[in-house]
Amino acid sequence: MKRLEYRGYDSAGVATITGGALQRRRAEGKLVNLETRLKAEPLNGSIGIAHTRWATHGAPTEGNAHPHFTDGVAVVHNGIIENFAELKEELAAAGAEFQTDTDTEVIAHLLARHRQEGMGRGEAMHAMLKRVKGAYALAILFEDDPSSIMAARNGPPLAIGHGDGEMFLASDAIALAPFTNEVTYLIDGDWAVIGKGGADIFDFDGYPVERPRHTSMATAYLANKGKHRHFMEKEIYEQPEAIAYVLANYISLIENPADPIPSFDFASIPSLAISACGTAYLAGLIGKYWFEHYARLPVEIDVASEFRYREIPLSPQSAALFISQSGETADTLASLRYCKKLGLKIGAIVNAAESSIAREADAVFPILAGPEIGVASTKAFTCQLAVLAALAISAARTRGTVTENEVQALVRSLAEMPRIMGQVLNSIQPQIELLARELSKYRDALYLGRGTSFPLAMEGALKLKEISYIHAEGYAAGELKHGPIALIDKDMPVIVIAPFDRFFNKTVSNMEEVAARGGRVILVTDEKGATASKLDTMHTIVLPAVDEIIAPMIFSLPIQLLAYHTAVFMGTDVDQPRNLAKSVTVE
Ligand code: F6R
Repeated sequence: MKRLEYRGYDSAGVATITGGALQRRRAEGKLVNLETRLKAEPLNGSIGIAHTRWATHGAPTEGNAHPHFTDGVAVVHNGIIENFAELKEELAAAGAEFQTDTDTEVIAHLLARHRQEGMGRGEAMHAMLKRVKGAYALAILFEDDPSSIMAARNGPPLAIGHGDGEMFLASDAIALAPFTNEVTYLIDGDWAVIGKGGADIFDFDGYPVERPRHTSMATAYLANKGKHRHFMEKEIYEQPEAIAYVLANYISLIENPADPIPSFDFASIPSLAISACGTAYLAGLIGKYWFEHYARLPVEIDVASEFRYREIPLSPQSAALFISQSGETADTLASLRYCKKLGLKIGAIVNAAESSIAREADAVFPILAGPEIGVASTKAFTCQLAVLAALAISAARTRGTVTENEVQALVRSLAEMPRIMGQVLNSIQPQIELLARELSKYRDALYLGRGTSFPLAMEGALKLKEISYIHAEGYAAGELKHGPIALIDKDMPVIVIAPFDRFFNKTVSNMEEVAARGGRVILVTDEKGATASKLDTMHTIVLPAVDEIIAPMIFSLPIQLLAYHTAVFMGTDVDQPRNLAKSVTVE
């Protein structure tokens, strides 16, 4: 369960069958609370199901924590049952008594009703799956069968682990790694009966099916914080090494045009679609600037939750890129499937190599950031950027939109990154801490930038709000005067991201507009920008002057550290901020 806590930490629970009866322990909040509970009231058994929750329907209380029990049936569920309201009404009218505010409980009641109607366990399972609509990964125990667990998948992932005289089931092979590396992934519509000797898998129509066994590469090794206070801090400081590893794997892709990317020919596509969520989307937005600028390749991009429903007229000759750290984000996966149906070539930029998004793509571009535990994405973001930069340069080369000399210069700039990142991380912490102490006194903040610094401004704001709970927004610097400038006063610090690039003078003008209205400016710039700007700022962070292509990665560092130290001053739970989860497998 510890290995799956990244999926949610609102509450947790475990159920076993012991002495012929279902038993459970549940606790509100983090897994540690359940651990304490189990120490005080241990639970025995050789079969069980457990769950860490990220609440969708019903408050994160112990009462709403999974497993849900009804008349000899226990259920844990990831996902959302979309027709739960109508099922609940129907079941309640027939006498069912609901004990929770969750959508999941209808599953337990449906199964219990089918059993009362005389159906066997498999029959009841099949009948229940025909009634529920929505997304689910399910694990179910029937009290009258202490030898098997039922499972079903439609959307969120489920992996069956094959042991020696014992079997496992989990949302992620990472959770199975200490026990087995032999896994079978269920596909959408599958359900299974898992006993200690093996698993019988059925399709949605109830016919037995075979699914391949894989040897998972997930390791039993559990990441630790080393000398750092939080995983987020550790992951920020790991970036020079992580980026060096990414570059070692991707520079050959640029330099070796004779090695075309399998199934992904940038030379022949008329346009590119990119879709992702949150921080990964902001990486994609920076990628759009690069693909358009260097490779002259038009890019259509949207957050996956909009992309999947927008009915964008996309050409089947185009290709689509999906960016995801976890590789399991439900909206991103749905956008991928939408593009696949339209006939586009699918590329996936993913960190989790065995994820659903990786498995369903035609070409996989691994992010290679290593495990990212902190809920706020840091090293995965800069590694996504490094992969996108390499792909954009490779695309520019194959499309003939840059000269050989320009390619070599871009590659040299990329290769500089690990060293410059190390230098920045070694020098800026003391001043960022001072600034963070100041920033933690405010309720709101604005981030501004132009060009690739605009998505970075949005990323800065996202990072600050998600871990410090300070309200922050990122704007294109030129948009300020079209509305947000009304917010400017002494209580609204404005963080301006302005490397000395072709936009610098324009951004400085926007900064002047802020200062003229009593706003306090925190300027993040480079040595050239610091010399050129005459503005009296609240604080100026000065980074080394770098080439335009690597500026987003280098300027990410102070942005991440500022959010991190502000959150530390605020005393929030940096690695597991409230209401969030590391992997979002619901819409
Ligand atoms: C923010 C953050 C999220 C994720 C988003 C997508 O720090 O981490 O915004 O970027 O939930 O997740 P993945 O990349 O797993 O698809």
